[in-house]
Amino acid sequence: MYNPEELLKKVNEALDGLAYDRQPLTLYEPIKYVLSLGGKRIRPVLMLLAYQLYKDAPECIMQQAIGLETYHNFTLLHDDVMDQADLRRGHPTVHKKWNDNQAILSGDTMLLQAFQRMLQCDARVLSEVMQLFVTTTLEIDEGQQFDVEFEDREDVTEDEYIEMIRLKTSVLLACALKMGGLLAGASADDQAALYRLGEKIGLAFQLQDDLLDVYGDTKVFGKNIGGDIVSNKKTYMLINAVNRANTTQRAELKRWIESRVFDRDEKVAAVTRLYDEIGIRQLCEEKINYYFEQGRQYLEQIQVGDERKAPLRQYIAQMMNRRF
Ligand code: IPE
Ligand code: IPE
Ligand code: MG
Ligand code: MG
Ligand code: MG
Repeated sequence: MYNPEELLKKVNEALDGLAYDRQPLTLYEPIKYVLSLGGKRIRPVLMLLAYQLYKDAPECIMQQAIGLETYHNFTLLHDDVMDQADLRRGHPTVHKKWNDNQAILSGDTMLLQAFQRMLQCDARVLSEVMQLFVTTTLEIDEGQQFDVEFEDREDVTEDEYIEMIRLKTSVLLACALKMGGLLAGASADDQAALYRLGEKIGLAFQLQDDLLDVYGDTKVFGKNIGGDIVSNKKTYMLINAVNRANTTQRAELKRWIESRVFDRDEKVAAVTRLYDEIGIRQLCEEKINYYFEQGRQYLEQIQVGDERKAPLRQYIAQMMNRRF
């Protein structure tokens, strides 16, 4: 059995070993670029860890693992266009370094490369693997569409937000874990528990991402701080800040949300100060812990020995403390 660090190393080696020998090189350059910038590789590592609950030699499913990472990176190329984000993993985003068209087309290419890698799995589970993957990718599109539409709505509820992040983020972590189990021949019950585990830690993970978008350090986080505040993303933090604000605070929040012309830094500083006053950081941290705890309960349900679960348990605990 490999520990999470060893699996991460294997994933990076597999990604570094990809050939870029097709024309035009300009289509593939941004793909090589984004995949070489690092990233935590959470999805492939989760898939390999889930496989290892049942079987050794996770190398057997490396194509599917890097397929999932390729898919994830495709979503980032398009997400950064949609969110007008200039920095990712501490480097210029593809649409900034090249342009929007390049991010769209190289992104589309990555989406299809991801399918190519998925298709190489064991023929006996091919149909199930593809069903899972396609359903997941469709749900992510739905989540991303909700995310963008919510920017222009002021009545988004906490439940709507949770469902939106379940779709845009959780289902991919859930898919990673379930697919690892599926490829290793796990029982239907275990596959379902793995999926639920991914869903819960995915919610915690996106809440954490939203928190870091306000309270993170650009140098560590690798993304510009305050992007969500600037574009009025209806995060758990903003929804709860509006709900819990006093009259003066609510009026100020509303003013920032409605203003069309503003100084970026001023808006980020003002909304962050309101979050601080209202105690939003702690509220969000409690919610993160709540979902991580729920996830852990699904890990307990999985019918394999404790020693077999140790690397996955360790990895999930590590995920909770991320700063990037
Ligand atoms: C970023 O995902 C998008 C979200 C779902 C929050 P990650 O935080 O996993 O990004 P990388 O791959 O490590 O850069
Ligand atoms: C990303 O949500 C979800 C997907 C990429 C599908 P965010 O927009 O919060 O991700 P970051 O912060 O840009 O990584
Ligand atoms: Mg986004
Ligand atoms: Mg984004
Ligand atoms: Mg974010």
